[in-house]
Parts: sequence; structure tokens; C-alpha cells
Amino acid sequence: MKTLQLDVDADGIALITLDAPDKPMNVVSPQFIDDMIAAIERVASDAAIKGAIITSGKPAFMAGADLKYILGIAGGALTLKQAYAFSQKPSVQMHRRLETCGKPFVAAINGLALGGGYELALACHHRVIVDDPKAVVGLPEVTVGLLPGSGGTQRLARMVGVEKAAALLLDGRQVPPAEALQLGMVDQVVPAADLLGAARAWLLKSPNAVRVWDVKGYRSSNGLLNPTIVKVMSERPAQIAASTRRNYPAPIAILDCLFQGLLLPFDKALQVESKHFARLLCDPVARNLIRTSFVNRGEATKLARRPNDVPKSKVTRVGVLGAGMMGSGIAYVSALAGIDVVLLDSTAEQAEKGKQYSVKLLAKSVERGKQTQAAADAILARIKATTDYQELAGCELVVEAVFEDVGIKADVTKRAEAVLGSSAIFASNTSTLPITKLAEASTRAAQFIGLHFFSPVDRMPLVEVIIGGRTSQETLAKSLDYVAQLRMTPIVVNDSRGFYTSRVFQTFIHEGMRMLEEGIEPARIENAAIAAGFPVGPLALLDEVTIELPWKIVQESEAALGANYVRPCAYDVMRRMLYEIKRPGRRHGGGFYEYPAEAPKRLWSGLSAAFPPARKQPEVAEIRDRLLYIQSLETARCMEEGVVAHPADADVGALLGWGFPAWTGGPLSLIETVGLEKFVAQAERMAAKYGPRFGPSDWLRARAEQGESFYQTAAPRTAAA
Ligand code: NAI
Repeated sequence: MKTLQLDVDADGIALITLDAPDKPMNVVSPQFIDDMIAAIERVASDAAIKGAIITSGKPAFMAGADLKYILGIAGGALTLKQAYAFSQKPSVQMHRRLETCGKPFVAAINGLALGGGYELALACHHRVIVDDPKAVVGLPEVTVGLLPGSGGTQRLARMVGVEKAAALLLDGRQVPPAEALQLGMVDQVVPAADLLGAARAWLLKSPNAVRVWDVKGYRSSNGLLNPTIVKVMSERPAQIAASTRRNYPAPIAILDCLFQGLLLPFDKALQVESKHFARLLCDPVARNLIRTSFVNRGEATKLARRPNDVPKSKVTRVGVLGAGMMGSGIAYVSALAGIDVVLLDSTAEQAEKGKQYSVKLLAKSVERGKQTQAAADAILARIKATTDYQELAGCELVVEAVFEDVGIKADVTKRAEAVLGSSAIFASNTSTLPITKLAEASTRAAQFIGLHFFSPVDRMPLVEVIIGGRTSQETLAKSLDYVAQLRMTPIVVNDSRGFYTSRVFQTFIHEGMRMLEEGIEPARIENAAIAAGFPVGPLALLDEVTIELPWKIVQESEAALGANYVRPCAYDVMRRMLYEIKRPGRRHGGGFYEYPAEAPKRLWSGLSAAFPPARKQPEVAEIRDRLLYIQSLETARCMEEGVVAHPADADVGALLGWGFPAWTGGPLSLIETVGLEKFVAQAERMAAKYGPRFGPSDWLRARAEQGESFYQTAAPRTAAA
């Protein structure tokens, strides 16, 4: 099936319409490249054709590459040579041939043109774009760990100048038409009705089909003496190092492409670009980013784990029990999604206070122009604050977010079920209590499930959906439909103490505290975490959540598991901070940090007396690896125990739930990035040095021996590019 159509009119103007069959969007696929190369050859060789217009038969002009396809060949599936050839084909045989074939081409950009789509437009001799804010243009490849590998870096830099090009390429920003014109990214902005007319008019003027850089004597720069290049190249690398901590290779490769490419003739510059592209394509970071942050996150958001045989459902009225921090957030996102909310608490004041949270957030969005006053009022009117359980009548779903206490939760479950219809679902937002245990209070355990939201609910897109021992498939499907209504991303896990996210996250903060106890300087611990790509260090994080929280989890687990419970490695640090040193966290006046009124927070001055630093300090890389490995090992245990069934859920959950660094692709992708065998060997080394918690299980060892990776996306090395 052809991905485009070519028609020639009486004036000898060819109209190439991009229209991939059975797809909502045109993408750069191997089929498209072949079709386009054939179309260019036809235009070049047919004497009756004077020039060509490229437009699209879909609302968008063209998105970038097909990410699922790229995922199959990224991260080592191809040799460098194959990856280079993969870039050179569209770059040379398609775009460069189009540009130098002697016939003029004009891009009639009727909708968004991003990545490979915008690169195609860049290769044309003229660009007309529709005057529509949705018709954005740009090169966002950096966000998936790549760079535009079909001439994008070179043409953009020569058209808009190296400084602007660097900014556009490093941010991957999508630019609306008026600004694109101003920047020189397009040549004309016209109303939709005039798009093809304007493109034709330009062609009928018999334009010159030679780009300025192909005119003899063209110089893109004065080499090293060009002050703009000097400025960009001296300032940007330091900025990139600071913002990426050198975990992302793409921004540096983009700068290298600009720097080297601008000193070279165009065809040579394209080779440099392809070389850099090939290196990035073979790097695991691009694969990790594409796999977890784009493909698998997208699939999860589209409810990949939803049982298919249950009819689609919609919640129109939701009950939220407990109007505290979590309940008020859940009420807000539900009302925002058009759902009527009954927000119940034990006193009218508490319930009203919960509603006030929405009042505040909505006032802010009106102030920022994101919402009209009328729309905000309508959202607010959907929330009914109450203490009366009778109001829950008619709710298809209830989310419970009262205190983390089995008895209180059991009580509110019973009271709600007495009012709810027989098909209603009861969901608990507990962060630690086993769902199967909580369901014992329910008379309909099949309709009982865990919906674990994250704080603050309006900003955290993840919901960890927990299947209890008796939860039905129908309940799971309906709960996932509710998460989709909220436009959030669910992962599905099985019941266990701490489920998945809390359980793995605990290992991060415990390890941080343990290091402090071992005598590692606290600033070193925090810096190593930030260097790894965590948003904040474990000690700063603990100060925010307070040590009371992980301590309570320890107490509950100990009570429930008795002699079988293994105390975490940070047990003593927590106990001392709470009961001896009495610094539980920020909310209580301070913890590992102190919070002066007039100055930024700083590590508590008494910390080195409480936990004396050792004379010999470990390398930052070792601390970083400890923090990453301990989480990967716990995640692997969750897979082994069946708490998480799909690696994608584990990795997506880690990135969205607690900010596990995106470049790793998540804790399981990290194991794969290191290499299973090497990871196991490293873990064994750490176990000998730091304790048995680092010991890889037999299950993981066996996987390593058999080379059984968590993902099977990589194509064999022999596959042709
Ligand atoms: P919170 O203390 O801010 O709010 C709890 C609310 O429940 C209070 O307004 C309280 O008045 C109300 N409440 C207590 N007993 C009640 C009863 N018998 N009937 C009606 N209302 C009652 O607590 P938060 O932080 O909102 O946590 C709520 C639940 O969400 C807990 O199970 C917690 O483990 C879980 N959770 C908390 C997260 C967090 O970051 N705070 C994250 C994810 C889950």
C-alpha cells in the first residue's frame, strides 16, 4: 500500500499527498521512505513536471519517526554501520536528492510537522504553512534521546543561525506558525484555504531550485573565529552538563553536529550528522527513553492491562471518603474530569476544608487564564462536601482515603456499602495496607480494589491499581476506565505489603540513611542521587515525608509478620532520628536539614556529630550505583513474586511514581542496560560489602545465566537496517 499519492496537473505541477493507509498520522516508516524516493525520482526524471508540492491528506502534515519501529532497532540491535546506513538512506537518497534534483519542491504544511516531518519540509526549497496554532513545527528528537538524522541539524542551523538552531534542537520545542516565520523556520504563513494556491503560485514563478548552501562560494561560518559559534560552543556544554548530569548523550551530540557540520561542505556535514545519529541510536539511553517514557507509558495510558471482555464503563458520580490531603486531591481531579463528587469526612469542617483545596486550585487556574470563571464555578459545583453517608447513593465508585488504619477503614467501608448500589466499586487509596486484608470488611470483596494515587494528586499522573485476592476482572476493568476518565496513567499490580511503588521506593530512602550511618558524608549522598538523575536526594526526601512515615510502615510490618520480618537497614537511623535526636522532618521543625526562615535549607549542622563522617569516602559513582541497584533488585523481586506481572508496568510506575531517572528507562531497564550478567556480578560484590540485601536471588541469577532479559524488543543483530 502506498503511503502517498502523486498527481500532475495541466501546468506540470506535481501534487504529492502524504496519506498513510489505516493510520491516523503520517509517520516516517521504511515504506514511506521508499515511496518518497520513487516520487522524487519521478519528479526529477519526468520532463513534463516543472516542480512539486508536498502536502498531507490528513489533519497533520507529518509526525516524526514511527517510535515503535525505532524501538525495535534502538539500543544495540543494529551495528554502528547499520545504524549509519539507516540514517543515510532518508538523508541522502530522499532529502538530499529532493534538494539537488534540479526541480523545485515546496512544502505545503497543512498541520503539525515534527521530527522527520519537519525535516522533509526543511529539505524542500520553500515552506508555506497554514495559519493555525495547531500547525506546530519543530525537531523534538532530543526528547527521545536522538537527533534529527536526515539533515535537520544542518539545514536548520544554516537557515536560522546556529544560536537559534541550538536552542530549538536542545529544547525540542514545538513552534507555532507566526513564531516559526519570525525565526525563519518557514517562509510563508497563509490561511488554510490559500495553502495550495500559495504553494502553486511560488512554483509558477519558476523559482531557482538551488539552496544557498549549494551555491559556489557559500560559507556557513567563519569557522572557529565566528563569534556566535564560539559563544554557543563555550556556554552550552556547561549548561547541558549541569542540566543532564551527563546522563543523556543526545544534547552533546547535537552540539557536536552543529560545530563540526558548520565547518564542512553540506554533503560531508550530512555524514557527520549520520555518524552522531548512529551512535545515539545504538546507545541504550535512546531505547530506554523511547520504550518507557513514550511507547509503554502511552500503552499504559491507553489501558493496556484492561480485560477486553468487559464492556466499557463510565463513572458519573464518585464518593471520596476522607477529605484530607489525598481525598481533596482525588475530589479535585474527578470534578475536573466532569464527574460529580461526594466528598465525605467525619466533620462538616473537615469536608469543607477538603473542598476548599479545589477552590484554591481553580482560583489559580483562572488567574493564569487556563480556565474561565464560569468553567471553574461549574467544576466546583460538582463537589458536594458532606458528612452524610446517604449522599453516596448513586455513586458507581467510592475511593476511600481516610486515616491509614485498618479499623477506621473497615468502619467506613461498612457504612458506605450500606448505602451503595449492588454493582458499585469500593477502592482504597491505602499506601501500605494489603488490599485483601482490607476487603475482609466488605460484603462484596470481588468489587473491592486498590487505587493508589500519589501526592499531590493534581500533579502526579500515576495510579497504582492493586488487585486484591478476590478482586474481579470486571472491577479491574471499571476501575481502569475511571483512571482513564481522569486522564491519568495506571499500572496494575498484585497485592503485597507496600504493593510495588512504596515497597521499592522504601529501599531508596533506607539505603540513603544507611549510608549516613556508615559515615558517608550527607552532601555526598545527596549529590550522588542527583547525579544519578533523582529529583532530590534521599535525605531531603525523607525530610518532606517525615521519618514517621517509613517508621510506621516498619512498625506495622513487624506487627503483621512477627519473627519473619527483616528489619530494614536504616532501622537504627530512623529510631535515633525520631526518639533520640528528635528531628523527624521539615514539618516538625527540621530533620536531616535545617530550614532557616531567611535562607535556603541546608544540611543540619549537628548531623556530623550524630553521624560522624568516615575518613575515607567512597566514589560518587559507587554511591550512585548503590542507590540505583538496591531499587532494581527490589523491583526484580517484585517480578519474581508476581507482584508486578509486566516489566513495562514496573518501569513506567518507577518513573511516574517516584521520579526514578528517565535515562535508565526504569529499574528493570537499568538491569538490562548494565547487562544482566554484569548486574548480577556487581550485586554480588555489593552484597559482600554492604550486606545481603544486595544479594541477587536464584531466580535473577538463573535469568542472567540463560540471558533471559526482561524485554524482548531488540531485534537480532543480523537484521538489516
Ligand atoms: P490525611 O490525614 O490528610 O486525611 C485523612 C482524612 O480522613 C482526614 O480529613 C480525616 O478527618 C478523615 N477521616 C478520618 N477518619 C474518618 C472517618 N471515620 N470518616 C470520615 N473521614 C475520616 O491523610 P492522607 O495523607 O490524605 O492519607 C489518606 C490515605 O491515603 C491513607 O490511607 C494514606 O496511607 C493514603 N495515601 C497517602 C499518601 C500521601 O502522600 N499522603 C499517598 C498515597 C496514599
